[in-house]
Amino acid sequence: MKRILLSLLTTMCLLASLACNNAGGGDKVRVGVFMSLTGSTANFGISSTNGIKLAADEVNAAGGINGKQVEILIQDDRSDASEAATIVTKFVTQDQVHAILGEVASSRSIAAAPIAQNAKIPMLTPSSTNPEVTRKGDFIFRSCFIDPVQGAAIAQFAARTLGAKRAAIMVDRKNDYSTGLEKVISATFTKMGGQMVGTQSYQEGDQDFNAQLTSLKGSNPEVIFVPGYYNDVGLIAKQARDKGITVPLVGGDGWDSAQLYAIGGTALIGSYFTNHYSPFDTDPKVQKFVTDYKARYGAVPDALAATAYDAAHIMFDAIKRSKSLSGTDIRDALAATKEFPGVTGKVTFNENRDAVKPIVVIEIKDGGTYAVRERVNVEGAALASTAPVAPTTAPPAAASSPTKK
Ligand code: PHE
Repeated sequence: MKRILLSLLTTMCLLASLACNNAGGGDKVRVGVFMSLTGSTANFGISSTNGIKLAADEVNAAGGINGKQVEILIQDDRSDASEAATIVTKFVTQDQVHAILGEVASSRSIAAAPIAQNAKIPMLTPSSTNPEVTRKGDFIFRSCFIDPVQGAAIAQFAARTLGAKRAAIMVDRKNDYSTGLEKVISATFTKMGGQMVGTQSYQEGDQDFNAQLTSLKGSNPEVIFVPGYYNDVGLIAKQARDKGITVPLVGGDGWDSAQLYAIGGTALIGSYFTNHYSPFDTDPKVQKFVTDYKARYGAVPDALAATAYDAAHIMFDAIKRSKSLSGTDIRDALAATKEFPGVTGKVTFNENRDAVKPIVVIEIKDGGTYAVRERVNVEGAALASTAPVAPTTAPPAAASSPTKK
């Protein structure tokens, strides 16, 4: 009798756990997060997961999503595209996540997106800007602007605001983000009457850029575009100044990390990059986020932290409105997102599942503080207008300590 009861109990337990699995995770909403916590761009992943954890804790403290707590599964892809794909495969096959957040680097989002798409699990990237990412399918979303818009803003800033006529460019040939931006920047700059006088390439992780910089110096540019990531840009800036190249360097969101100034230091002063937000925005929503983030992590949130914080809240909001926890229902709810008020701007997804948001042009000042030099409002993929604003220098107290990350 005892044995029968025991086996009955075992069967019941098994059935219960199966039922849980079928329901996709019992009483929790599971969100898989894949980011680079180590490797060449570790700061991207560290800031992003900080933002996501903050958002998840806010939602859980307020009672969760429709009574269910959110469980965040964070995995480190070591800044490697094939590792990103492996993690997302595990998310959809073993962990049975309801939704996925990641990555920052476009190449890694591009590698992982087809897996989420095939499994019909919605994936939202907070900050991958290469257009190819969301072309992977109708389950792939991004809550930031795209590189055709960012690249045009960069070129336009150099041509119009800096008045440059001759430009050179340094491109990371193996990086989808860098090559994508290079095309748009060169095309826009030329269209605006400028001339591309030199192009040189490098590979992420290179330490010595002297040969390329010598060649670029010889072409006598008035500005050098560097559409790359912070670690390489910091070194390029240093070596350029050591060579006596004094013209401004201009890049994109890939520059944004406190590590940039830690590596490049004063060589970066007077250079510019486009970005998703400014921590000095006076909007009370932004200031509350900056205060909460600083209290928790001891650093001013960079754009990665801010975009990831927004992406997490956008995903939670969609899950809340979703008819069920199925991937398709969550996808539909995500697609229906309207004017979501994030700290990096309002988010509505267009027909390509991309967000259309304003861009800020940031000037690097002494001590690594940022000043907003310009705000570029964009409509679709075209630049509708540029509205220069008076430079606002960062208050010294708000300057992030480059080594504190
Ligand atoms: N936009 C970059 C990419 O797509 C990643 C990035 C976003 C880097 C924001 C820094 C800040 O590769």
